[in-house]
Amino acid sequence: MTGLRVQGLTVAIETHRGPVTVVDGVDLDVQGGRCSALVGESGSGKTLTALSLMRLLPTSAHITAGTMSLRDRGGDTVDIMGLDDAGLRRVRGRRIAMIFQEPMTALNPLMRVVDQVGEGLEIHLNLRRRAARQRATTLLERVGVPAARATAYPHELSGGQRQRVMIAAALAADPDIVIADEPTTALDVTVQAQVLVLLRELVAERGMGLLLITHDLGVVAQVCDDVTVLYAGRVVEQGSTVDVFKSPHHPYTRGLLASMPSTAPRGKPLPAIRGVVPPLGRWPAGCRFRDRCDVAADACAVDPPVVIVGERRVRCIHAVPR
Ligand SMILES: Nc1ncnc2c1ncn2[C@@H]1O[C@H](COP(=O)(O)OP(=O)(O)O)[C@@H](O)[C@H]1O
Ligand SMILES: [Mg+2]
Repeated sequence: MTGLRVQGLTVAIETHRGPVTVVDGVDLDVQGGRCSALVGESGSGKTLTALSLMRLLPTSAHITAGTMSLRDRGGDTVDIMGLDDAGLRRVRGRRIAMIFQEPMTALNPLMRVVDQVGEGLEIHLNLRRRAARQRATTLLERVGVPAARATAYPHELSGGQRQRVMIAAALAADPDIVIADEPTTALDVTVQAQVLVLLRELVAERGMGLLLITHDLGVVAQVCDDVTVLYAGRVVEQGSTVDVFKSPHHPYTRGLLASMPSTAPRGKPLPAIRGVVPPLGRWPAGCRFRDRCDVAADACAVDPPVVIVGERRVRCIHAVPR
């Protein structure tokens, strides 16, 4: 099975108080032809998880434990943790590509968009300039950037078009896995929906695996097959989107779902999860959510085990195994 399997990923960040674990034992499975969501409030460790998969962490952060293995569509298995710089250059862009949140910072302002997309084709697929440009133009059209706009510079395009250019650049080398970190938060709602539909179609068309990172559960419901809920660097619930939305088992997931505008009762203020995410590393011992949890008990002061409920994994003592 094509895909990326991550087990026990742990990332520490250097702070003036010493190293703090910000991603703690995360397991993820991103399968070819499927869309997996990684959700959680801001600061929960989503971006650091994504950057780990690309081995692109900032210098202040490092992976302290875990395994990551990629099985590509050719049937080869790559141990991402074991790659040297040359190996990483072969994997990044070619096997695993990333779509960033803010296209203006990721695109080169001085380069025509067709050339930015074409550059990936020249590097990864060894295409000549002309062939690369041609294929880049086709790819741009496929993601909804008309051929007439292909020679534009990023600043000449709308936010939605720039995000499409990023998607085209990420897809240029036909990667096995695409990681999209909040790819639509900078866009208005209608464009957001179009970009998500496009990503969904491309996953089906190309059989690539998509890891979609978002803090928006509406987005998850719209496009993702399965979902991983992160709280303070730990996975609290993981399962198929349909299951999790139908009956969330973790109190944090329930809180997130209840505070979605589309599920909350109309005419009333949105119920919010009480309290705030504690600052980096200042989590309570045991269950990290217990200070904000309505059903917290004394037993929550001890690290809760992962409970398997059907096909679901839940890190809460109240979850009943089935
Ligand atoms: N380069 C960095 N240096 C120090 N702390 C960081 C850095 N990047 C992220 N962090 C901290 O690590 C935690 C997780 O960050 P991040 O993965 O960006 O969260 P998310 O993407 O879920 O909002 C946050 O508390 C954030 O402040
Ligand atoms: Mg982030």
